[in-house]
Amino acid sequence: MVGLKTHLVPLLLFSLSALFFFSYFHSSLPLLSSPHPNPNPNFTLHPPNPDFTFIIKLLAYNRLDSLSRCLRSLAAADYLSDRVHLHVHIDHFTLPDDDADLKLLESRRILDFVDGFEWRFGEKLVHYRTANVGLQAQWLEAWWPSSDHEFAFVVEDDLEVSPLYYKFLKNLILNYYYNASNSRPYIYGASLQRPRFVPGKHGNKLKLDDRTRLFLYQLVGTWGQLLFPKPWKEFRLWYDKNKAKGIKPYLDGMVTTGWYKKIGEKIWTPWFIKFIHTRGYFNIYTNFLHERALSVSHRDAGVNYGKTAGPDSHILDESSLEFKFWDMQPLGDLKWYDFCFREIFPERVVASLEELGSVLNSVQKHNNVIFVSLFGVKEMVISNLLCHFESLNLRNYILIGPESEFLFDLARRGHSVIITNRFLESVGAYELLTVHNSYVQVISEILVKVYVLQKCLESRYSSWVVDGNMLPVSMDPFVVESDPSYDFYVGTSSELFFARGSSFAEKDVWGTDFISKFAMMVNSLLVRQQSISFGYVMAKFLELKKGVRVNILDETSFGLRIDNSNVNQSLGDGKKIVFWPKDMASDIVQKRLQEIGIWVINDDSSCKAVVCHR
Ligand SMILES: *[C@@H]1O[C@H](CO)[C@@H](O)[C@H](O)[C@H]1NC(C)=O
Ligand SMILES: *[C@@H]1O[C@H](CO)[C@@H](O)[C@H](O)[C@H]1NC(C)=O
Ligand SMILES: *[C@@H]1O[C@H](CO)[C@@H](O)[C@H](O)[C@H]1NC(C)=O
Repeated sequence: MVGLKTHLVPLLLFSLSALFFFSYFHSSLPLLSSPHPNPNPNFTLHPPNPDFTFIIKLLAYNRLDSLSRCLRSLAAADYLSDRVHLHVHIDHFTLPDDDADLKLLESRRILDFVDGFEWRFGEKLVHYRTANVGLQAQWLEAWWPSSDHEFAFVVEDDLEVSPLYYKFLKNLILNYYYNASNSRPYIYGASLQRPRFVPGKHGNKLKLDDRTRLFLYQLVGTWGQLLFPKPWKEFRLWYDKNKAKGIKPYLDGMVTTGWYKKIGEKIWTPWFIKFIHTRGYFNIYTNFLHERALSVSHRDAGVNYGKTAGPDSHILDESSLEFKFWDMQPLGDLKWYDFCFREIFPERVVASLEELGSVLNSVQKHNNVIFVSLFGVKEMVISNLLCHFESLNLRNYILIGPESEFLFDLARRGHSVIITNRFLESVGAYELLTVHNSYVQVISEILVKVYVLQKCLESRYSSWVVDGNMLPVSMDPFVVESDPSYDFYVGTSSELFFARGSSFAEKDVWGTDFISKFAMMVNSLLVRQQSISFGYVMAKFLELKKGVRVNILDETSFGLRIDNSNVNQSLGDGKKIVFWPKDMASDIVQKRLQEIGIWVINDDSSCKAVVCHR
């Protein structure tokens, strides 16, 4: 028998290769509050990078009064002696037009006005279209970033901005783009409009407490949007690809998808929203209270409004500043919201017992936690599972898996995860094992489950330990919880295990030195047989315990089993889960789930729908 420690080498190598992702995503993990607010920024600071460039992209059409109000407000802002460029994109009227003479005159007046408008902060550039392209092309063609230090602030012509807007945005860029420990590649910009809209159907009311100044929200704001270069470039490429392949930006459950179905390519936001949903990106928003914002839309009659609706908010200016306007809190102090305006918690990675305790407390629901083991499960299958969790409003789960880029990505999208090797290293579990190297994976998987189970029971929470080769299909997929006559349930055909939290209070199930005894048992079982599972070892272990009530759970009594041969099955009434053998090929799994109608992801693994729950 060879000591495991000498065989840790491959595992450590793996850790090192993954370290890149770790530092990339987790430079300030966990996202905990720092007690120091940023010092008052000194706005005469050097530019963050010699290539730093700020361009205003003003999208105009046929509204001279609106345009002149917008330009005047832009020119009245404080630019801190920075060079700031102004690019005006003027759309053409639709041809042919019965009233061409009048339209030509209007266009001339707009061009004359823009030509005569003095812009003393940088270069002024006018892009006058030859035909009507509409808002989608106006936005999308307005910008192709020429470097990672070029930023675009897009305003439509019926906006008016605060004189403070640039100082605010520059400060924001310094704090959330250039400060490496306080920036994330999945933040795509900042909206200066007052947040008002929740696009997910049946989503939460947009409500923030009065102390919140900044927060993150997935939705793009079209009334004064700062765009960061890298995500915008990604979006343009993604749009190109989808457009070329004839893929529509449909996202079920979103109000914006209804708009798209009605007016199609006139608008661009459904495309951007779909992209953001697929990637899991976020936008920074302000909350200045009393309906105030740094950018206000006058909602003049035009493409978006049949008749003028008037300003949507009040302009925030120096005179109305009675709070710490410039304080840019650390990212870890800000709240994050999805398209349902549901708060999510990105980057919740559990790497120690202590962290597990606090994550358990926050994810548990009615003192129940579901652990989902993702070992050996294909990414598409996992994505499909998580979409079902979202649509069933199951939120009390923690994912367990081997360290991978995919798992870190799930964490940053708001799923709580346990990275097995990190966790086991932190609890010193590797010391316990003396087995052959080829079993490291099997043993790691079993051991991490035992640790989390024990911690869970210590906290008096009931827990389900399940594998990714099952799919919940009802709101209460796991039923036996209410039968109090048993402490544990072990599944017969899948890796399903249940432990009742209250049992632990009544009796000492584990005894002293539980983990090392359990590890010894794992080792001795492994010597005798090649393949063992957590449920199997647990059942063996519990057999030796007096007074512990274990029951067998027949999954077929409440679940549908699928396999290689049964085609075109139907769910039938009362089925709560669908499950399949662990070694079933993932393309067959996908096929079977499609037949039943429970394959709910797109080819790029994103959920087909956003499902909000109030
Ligand atoms: C801000 O920077 C300028 C130029 O470097 C300097 O003169 C000024 O004292 C600084 N102000 C503060 C409040 O630090
Ligand atoms: C960068 O962000 C961190 C975390 O929020 C903060 O503690 C630090 O002061 C910031 N650095 C600068 C130069 O502002
Ligand atoms: C399964 O259903 C599909 C679609 O309804 C059908 O085309 C196919 O023939 C069915 N297969 C079997 C074996 O019944």
